[in-house]
Amino acid sequence: CGIVGYIGDKNVYPILIKGLQRLEYRGYDSAGIAIYNSDLKTYKKKGKVSDLETFVADKDITGHVGIGHTRWATHGEPNDVNAHPHTSMHGNFVLVHNGIIENYAELKKDLTGKGYVFQTETDTEVLVNLIEYFYSLDEVDNAELAVRLALSKVVGAYGIVVLCKNEKHRIIAARLGSPLVIGIGQGEYFLASDASPIVEYTDSVIYMNDGDVAVIEKNSLTLKTVDNDPANFKVTKVDLSIGDLEKGDFEHYMLKEIFEQPKTIQDTYRGRIKADQKEIVLGGLLDVFPKIVNANRIIIIGCGTSWHAALVAEYLIEEYARIPVEVEYASEFRYRKPIINPGDVVMAISQSGETADTLAALKMAKAQGALILGICNVVGSSIARETDAGVYTHAGTEIGVASTKAFTAQVTVLTLFAFKLAKERGKISQELYEQLIGEMLAIPDKVQTILLSHPNIKKVAEKYKDAINALYLGRGYLFPVALEGALKLKEISYMHAEGYAAGEMKHGPIALVDDNLPVVVVSAKDSYYEKVVSNIQEVKARKGNVIAVVTEDDNGLRNMANDLFEVPESHPAVAALLAVVPLQLFAYYIAVMRGCNVDQPRNLAKSVTVE
Ligand code: G6P
Repeated sequence: CGIVGYIGDKNVYPILIKGLQRLEYRGYDSAGIAIYNSDLKTYKKKGKVSDLETFVADKDITGHVGIGHTRWATHGEPNDVNAHPHTSMHGNFVLVHNGIIENYAELKKDLTGKGYVFQTETDTEVLVNLIEYFYSLDEVDNAELAVRLALSKVVGAYGIVVLCKNEKHRIIAARLGSPLVIGIGQGEYFLASDASPIVEYTDSVIYMNDGDVAVIEKNSLTLKTVDNDPANFKVTKVDLSIGDLEKGDFEHYMLKEIFEQPKTIQDTYRGRIKADQKEIVLGGLLDVFPKIVNANRIIIIGCGTSWHAALVAEYLIEEYARIPVEVEYASEFRYRKPIINPGDVVMAISQSGETADTLAALKMAKAQGALILGICNVVGSSIARETDAGVYTHAGTEIGVASTKAFTAQVTVLTLFAFKLAKERGKISQELYEQLIGEMLAIPDKVQTILLSHPNIKKVAEKYKDAINALYLGRGYLFPVALEGALKLKEISYMHAEGYAAGEMKHGPIALVDDNLPVVVVSAKDSYYEKVVSNIQEVKARKGNVIAVVTEDDNGLRNMANDLFEVPESHPAVAALLAVVPLQLFAYYIAVMRGCNVDQPRNLAKSVTVE
């Protein structure tokens, strides 16, 4: 979600709207603002920021203090009521919120007992009423104290910005888990969930720390902890310019998106891995999960990169949750008269949520009585709407045609799904479940480490940029990664590349191996390791050039390969999320060196809405 806020002498409305537009590129489903003038006025609307603009066209939007919000929907219809800001029952507070209040049911029960009535099912409405409840107590005489008391009762993650009807000269903000940035102007302050809405006004910002509360007036800023101790903070120069909202310092969107992955993976699991790291919650699947747990079979459909993510899921779900899985190209599935039984679950994976084959295949499965699920990146897309339930990948807008961050976000969701399913079916212990969750939480930092090695990847790309063909090999979880690596290279550099299961090499592709052929071998220290070593020997014996993706501790392959892409060690179940990253960069650099249009490769489209 996106948050903006302003207090100062300027007209607040244009600042809020522009800020929301800056945040909208990620694809939000509803937007809202609250502005002080004579009164505290709230306007919110399902749809785009432009829908909100139309809605407020004839309303009173004058004022110098205000907050705004754009919301990510989970599955279920996004609507006006669920949009932020939320208002407390007696109208004393309005609040915008990012994150999840985990103990909201408990808090809601208490508040209901105290006479509070709720308009929505949201956790946010519980929070705003909790603040109002504390405000109503005799011993509480200001909004800030009410906010801090309320937050001391909250378990979960939040970034909130609050306005109190009786304190028109003040904004209160707090952060735990969900980012908030304060922009410092001359006699004015800005607030936002990232710096993008702020940068055109000031480059002087404070990134709020977890557990901090900010009390902001036009000429003063106080930062303290929830317990009322002074908080440490640092004023920094924001290194983001308006231009960064486009491609930033990156030459291409694709490169930017590759580099965003530590964040997008985190955005995708944020709020889904509970604070104590002992549990995974997939809100969008809550109602249907019992059905999935008892499914006879899971059929996963997709196209292109999404199909590769599905393959990773097949390996994960079968290994850990022990439910039979089939992965199908949507274009095949829809026409081949497949047998679908009522106990089957059909899951579609799609970045755009609009791919025609995937949508048609899904409709067919629905007509035949299967439970249909969606894993989409674009909120409110056709596939997301068509499915019974689903999980959004929060990768943000992906502009480069060759999918990168959307793939790792898909694999992140599917991995969480497989772990959760395994646990619910009693196939893994709590101990292993927690270990796997820990492995997932470690991924963003490890991806960051890989990204730092980009100069080496570029050097290797230079060496192989003129090859005619390339072969990618992998086994187990890294077989789909080999397919994805080959697809990336093909899509953007037009170099012919094939991905193969390493064990299948001897049944055909080995005929291609000579001293001109780069062979990218994707390996990890997993149960397939020795087998992969043998495959490399087969390539070396025929003078092939081996580029190996290896874990840092791997001394065996290191000595055999011509070139290396090192990745940090991880559990095999999450290894695909790491191994794919150097292959994305490798394809990118080769394409650039070959003078190709990386972001818009010929003949391809980002969203294929025709058959
Ligand atoms: C197109 C895109 C690919 C994408 C595929 C499936 O071919 O160029 O990057 O993987 O469609 O798209 P989807 O939106 O369904 O994931």
